[in-house]
Order: sequence, then C-alpha cells, then structure tokens
Amino acid sequence: MNEKELKQGRSTGWIGKQLFWFEETDSTNNEAKRSSGAEHGALFLADCQTGGRGRLGRSFSSPHDTGIYMTLLLKPKIQAGNASRLTLVTALSVRKAILTCCGLKAGIKWPNDIILRGKKVCGILTEMRLLGSSIEYVIIGIGINVNNTEFPAEIREVATSLYLESGKRYDRIPLIWETMRAFETYYETFLQTEDLSELMEEYQELMVNPGGKVEIMDKEEPFTGLSRGINKEGELLVETENGIKAVSSGEISVRGVYGYV
Ligand code: BTN
Repeated sequence: MNEKELKQGRSTGWIGKQLFWFEETDSTNNEAKRSSGAEHGALFLADCQTGGRGRLGRSFSSPHDTGIYMTLLLKPKIQAGNASRLTLVTALSVRKAILTCCGLKAGIKWPNDIILRGKKVCGILTEMRLLGSSIEYVIIGIGINVNNTEFPAEIREVATSLYLESGKRYDRIPLIWETMRAFETYYETFLQTEDLSELMEEYQELMVNPGGKVEIMDKEEPFTGLSRGINKEGELLVETENGIKAVSSGEISVRGVYGYV
C-alpha cells in the first residue's frame, strides 16, 4: 500500500479528501491530535504503528504491511455528551465494509469491537477534545486485523484477522474506503437525532452473545447480568436481579462470563 494507490482508491464523498499517510508513526490518533487544525473528514493512515493504543490504556498490535490503522478527524456540531455514540456508528460501518469486501459476517461486541467466530478482528478508539463545553474535535481510531498470520501470545486467545478466518489475503485499500463510505451514510442518519434511534435495531441484530451473561468490569461496582441490547443513547442494557441497568461505555469493559464475547 502506498499513498498514490490509496488516493486513487478513494470512493467517498467528503471523508479523506485531506489524507495524511505515514509509513510508520507512533499512533494515527496521536497524528490526528498533532494536526487537529486539519479539516473535518481528514483521514490519517499508517502502514505500521509503534505505539498503537486501545481503550482503557491497552496497546493495539500494529505490525507493518498487515492491518489497517486509521483515524478520522471530525468537527461535528453536536452535543459533547453525544459524541461517544460515534463509536457505535463506526462499528456498524466497519462491519458493513467487512461484509461487502470479504463476504464475512462479523458481529459487534458492545461498544467497539468487531467479532468473528468469538474473536476480535477490529477495535475502535474514540477520543474527543472540548473547547469550553463544545466539541473542538472528535477523533475515531480504527484498527482492523486484515492479513495477520499470528498474534502476540498475550492476545492470541482473543484476537483474530480476516486472513485467519477465511484463509484469504485482502487488499486493504477497498476495505478502508468501504468503511468510510458506510460511515458517511450511517453518520448522516446519526446526525438527524444525535442518537441511535434509527440505527439501534440494526446494531442490536449484530450484537454477539444476545441474552448472554456478561460481567461489567466497573472499577467502583462490578456486576454481572444478562445482555439485553442497547437503548437509543447507545448504552448497553443489562438485566440484573434489581432490574435493567443502562451502562455507558466510558471506563468500563464487558466480558462474556463464558468467553471473550
Ligand atoms: C481497542 O481495541 O480498544 C481500540 C483499538 C483502536 C486501534 C486503532 S489503530 C488506529 C488508531 N491509532 C491508535 O493508536 N489506536 C487506533
């Protein structure tokens, strides 16, 4: 993959008109922060990351010539409190692109993991900077394991790639632009209400482990319950002995009690 081929493959309306390509960088989310004066829709892509980051301070394995590491810079005129919902909008987009480009039916593990056969094939890291109470920018970092043939020992049980699930290698360029094309459509829908009311049915159908037992690893108050989909705010609904609790994505992680999902 090189910058010229990448630019030639662009099939989006407004995303990626401004494109930043790096053979190597620490993290495309960091690049987007460093160039946050760039325009709404600017896309940052790298062939490899030396400090790829995940949610909750985790790292994201980002070897050379293998996966997709990209960050979308947005300057949305929405309430700051609604911005984390964009993670769910992005998950829908990645899942759709994987189906279109590879014919693989992935599921979603709330809020931000794309899952194939119980293992994670993509993660999303959304970050935001405020100016007073309004949004200066939102950056959405997407990491897709495309042609990985193996993973570091510590994530081997929970990570997979499109290659490992299908035995086929994929060109990353169509996947990149299909993801962004799908995002443009879902984003337009999201903007109408700034919530998931028009998208939650689709999202819920794609959720892995419906009705399954999940553990909510909240630092203050961990609890278990049954996964009961999401609400229009994009929160996970968990059925507990004391009724349904709505969980927001912030600093928590969810584990299936009988496996990763
Ligand atoms: C997660 O699984 O917790 C989120 C992983 C997000 C990884 C992507 S790769 C591109 C962008 N740059 C980063 O450092 N992280 C995101």
